[in-house]
Amino acid sequence: MSTRNQTEKAVQQIERLRDLIRHHDHLYYVLDAPEISDGEYDGLLRELRRLEEQHPDLVTPDSPTQRVSGEPSERFQTVRHPVPLLSLGNVFTDEELEAWERRAMNLIPGEAIDYYCELKYDGLAVALTYENGLLVRGATRGTGVEGEDVTANLRTVRSIPLRVSGENIPARFEVRGEILFPIDKFEELNREREERGERTYANPRNTAAGSVRQLDPHITASRPLELYVYSLGWAEGDVPETQSATLEWLGQLGFKINPGNRKASALSEAISFYEDALEQRESLNYGTDGVVIKVDSFRLQRLLGVVGREPRWAIAYKYPAEQATTRLVRIGINVGRTGALNPYAELEPVQVSGVTVKMATLHNEDYIRERDIRIGDIVTVQRAGEVIPQVLGPVVEARTGSETKFLMPKSCPECDEPVVRREGEAIHRCVNPACPAQSYELIKHYVSRPAMDIDGVGESLVKQLLEAGLIRDFADLYDLKVEQLSALERMAEKSAQNAFDAIAQSKERPLANVIFALGIRHVGAETARILAERYGDMDALAAATQEELTDIYTIGSVVAESVYSWFQNDENKALVEKLRDAGVRMREDIIRPVGDLPWTGQEIVLTGRLTELSRPQAEEIVRSLGGKAGRSVTKKTTLVVAGAEAGSKLEKAQRLETEIIDEDEFLRRVEEARQ
Ligand code: IVH
Repeated sequence: MSTRNQTEKAVQQIERLRDLIRHHDHLYYVLDAPEISDGEYDGLLRELRRLEEQHPDLVTPDSPTQRVSGEPSERFQTVRHPVPLLSLGNVFTDEELEAWERRAMNLIPGEAIDYYCELKYDGLAVALTYENGLLVRGATRGTGVEGEDVTANLRTVRSIPLRVSGENIPARFEVRGEILFPIDKFEELNREREERGERTYANPRNTAAGSVRQLDPHITASRPLELYVYSLGWAEGDVPETQSATLEWLGQLGFKINPGNRKASALSEAISFYEDALEQRESLNYGTDGVVIKVDSFRLQRLLGVVGREPRWAIAYKYPAEQATTRLVRIGINVGRTGALNPYAELEPVQVSGVTVKMATLHNEDYIRERDIRIGDIVTVQRAGEVIPQVLGPVVEARTGSETKFLMPKSCPECDEPVVRREGEAIHRCVNPACPAQSYELIKHYVSRPAMDIDGVGESLVKQLLEAGLIRDFADLYDLKVEQLSALERMAEKSAQNAFDAIAQSKERPLANVIFALGIRHVGAETARILAERYGDMDALAAATQEELTDIYTIGSVVAESVYSWFQNDENKALVEKLRDAGVRMREDIIRPVGDLPWTGQEIVLTGRLTELSRPQAEEIVRSLGGKAGRSVTKKTTLVVAGAEAGSKLEKAQRLETEIIDEDEFLRRVEEARQ
């Protein structure tokens, strides 16, 4: 056979195999109806790999072998969504839902409304762009206006087709949907992590989001993520005129659409859909937090329009927070990293929205007293979204008389030092800086994912290290030797090395993470990021005065006071020095372009409610273009951006005849300045 013929044959074989694999991927990952065994499937994939290795020039990006590709990236690129992703208004009762319908009907009198009912998936929203049938971009929802480019990661999700085929496919279009982590796989992952002594994940939703935002697509590929598609974002070409027909069409193209979606010709049918969905919620293998009811016709959707970021043509009917009753066995006290004594309830295990609950928060002493919650009571427990479950109150009728009242301890359960309750505060605190419980919580916070992300050092290891006297504070982690780690009980050689490597790697974390990891009261991840950006240097931050800190637009006086006094404390100063000596990052090289930026010299004040951007985002944009974001309108102010309900600042700007623009104009000028 001639070489040409051989190549032609290979082309045919490869195409045939790819089609076959795509067909079985669709059956398995989209329709949940596999027709061949895993072994047979692997055989097909192996054969394709072999042929592609022999003919590397025939490898195309949409081949099923190319799902995982590319190297880990440093960070994600920001992408602007051509059409913003909207939010949804909420209702919790039939009455509220009916009121929503009345408002809509008043706007389109005489029109008969058909609805389309879907589940409200509790995951991460993403947008996928296809060009000429090929997946070219996957982005997170982000702010709705801008998201992150996570194409390499979304390519690894097997229910996302890398290419779609069929007749009349628009040249370019975008589909939107929710990435979910199946509950059974989530529990399996946590079990495995626990066995390896690694930190477990909080819930499937955060884990789905975390998996999509991994910098290394290989990690995402190892996670069994799924995508349920719920809308067409935009399209260049002919598309159906209703939501129901659109989803049916997208299903034919190969996307995963929930087969339980239903059309409803009256609101009462939508209410039945909600009731059925609520009943079946527990039996689903993914999280939902309500149903979404959409006006089916796109013509009517356009007539109804959007207010702010919420369409008038769709509404989320949310499930009530789930409750259950169980016995409160004991009240324990957890000493937080700031010394707060947090009472919590130890419960007889009970299932609440598919999760076993054994513990719930009791907030503080007043909460317990006001509700007269006693040890031994049958109590009602509630889980709302991702919040830690809480005890709502006792079932008084179930009392037997053997229940006992709870008293807050007078001394810290961990260090025995007296506790104080400051005036005006509901919290009892241990003020002993050497309290071991505080160190434990602080170190746990330090190694946690949003802080220094030291994977391999989980809660139990922190405890062991403290008990063995190997560490007293988080800076001591950097002095640990592999031998010390591997000498610990239940510590395999490999895990010791992993923990050691993870500690070493954490030295490279961005300054914002380091600031957050210090555990300064009131300094959350976002505040830490703002501080890192503003100062770019730990020493500069440590030297900042309280006034200076208060002057930062998004930082209030309470936070400023807290940051300032943290850095005045000698022990804290010593801690920072220890981190510095260990080689932990203490400054961020902020790359500032030389010369003037488009808005150098401008002082811009933002006021009122913005819809597309959050205040900090808008401020950041101003600064990134060289402008100053002012807090109050003065003679120096060059421009005022007024959102909805702007008040006194707007009036002052009018008085001073400062230029005033709205958010749309602001965004337009931003675009212009960025050209
Ligand atoms: S439609 C109408 N449909 O809910 C514009 N959204 O609060 C909203 N979501 O970020 C999108 N399930 O991630 C739509 N069946 C569904 C949904 C859904 C979950 C999420 C979506 C969005 C958020 C809006």
